Amino acid sequence: MAVEPESLEWSLPVPSVQELAIQGLQTVPASYVRDDTDIIITTPSDPSLRIPLIDMTKLVNPDSQQQEIQRLHSACKEWGLFQIINHGVSDESLSNMKEHVRGFFDLPLQEKKHWAQKPGSLEGYGQAFVTSEEQKLEWNDMIFLRTRPLQNRNLNFWPEKPQGFRKALETYSEDLSRLAVSIIRFIAMGLGVEAQQYSETYREGLYDIRMNCYPPCPEPERVLGFNPHADISGITLLLECGDTAGLQVLKDGHWVVVEPIDGALVANLGHVTQIMSNGIYKAPDHRAMVNKSKQRLSIVTFCYPNSSANIGPAEKLIKSGSPPLFTTLKCEEYFHRFYNRKLEVSFIDSLKI
Ligand code: OGA
Ligand code: NI
Repeated sequence: MAVEPESLEWSLPVPSVQELAIQGLQTVPASYVRDDTDIIITTPSDPSLRIPLIDMTKLVNPDSQQQEIQRLHSACKEWGLFQIINHGVSDESLSNMKEHVRGFFDLPLQEKKHWAQKPGSLEGYGQAFVTSEEQKLEWNDMIFLRTRPLQNRNLNFWPEKPQGFRKALETYSEDLSRLAVSIIRFIAMGLGVEAQQYSETYREGLYDIRMNCYPPCPEPERVLGFNPHADISGITLLLECGDTAGLQVLKDGHWVVVEPIDGALVANLGHVTQIMSNGIYKAPDHRAMVNKSKQRLSIVTFCYPNSSANIGPAEKLIKSGSPPLFTTLKCEEYFHRFYNRKLEVSFIDSLKI
């Protein structure tokens, strides 16, 4: 009989996909095979559909700011996802982080297990959201950690190998929180809401990181690396560790490939921003596909406002005459609802008025 976990903040242990991959299987185990081919097929999308590219230096420069904010606003409205270049995070911080994440996944399984998830906690090395033995599995190993504020850190789950991992993550998470504050400020400016107020809630915001490893897969067209989903964050910042594509975003009914750009970060909006914008922006559905011969690593930072912030439609948007489409909740209540919901109900729909 399947063990029923009490809430989603818990995961059934499943095998390491990296270990499966090195066995040199010709076919994937049935628990990973999707039968709904509709889900798998990437419809060739219009080649004119390009993922928007936002240049941070243009946002900062007074001469180009208005125009770039307008481009950012369109990107958020039409895609909910964009790539950011010239974001100000040093090459050193990025490459150091990538190197240590690669080093971690290269460790033998027994070593990685020192930092394995424990029952009752999502943090650590393993897989997330495996709640039933019938559930189709994702072709992905991961490690999930809370990085900010500092008192949320649970160092028991922070790898000490490869040497320097913790230091690299500390620097990287500080850099990314600074970047998030700045992006949120420009997003709020594009929406015409209280930019200073919103960006400040991210300064002492909550930050989680998920490092994903997608090993090579003998039958990539039959599995998913990451199921289609929208993030619940304010904004999510994804760093690709190499040039192997895998991330796809749903745009007008088509899955569009997000091609890695060296030095860029991929930003996507989450439900917190969808709610704040009162539905003007949407958190896009996205998923990850896998590759026959190449491993892909991604480093994903989920950025939230601080735990005492309210999550609800921005006052300015409501005052201007639109009725609020979402209920306003304290950040803590928002998480509580997320982790204690029924999986078949869409989370964002459950927050609609
Ligand atoms: C995520 C996510 C996609 C990827 O971690 O929420 O969407 O390509 N990851 O790793
Ligand atoms: Ni995601």
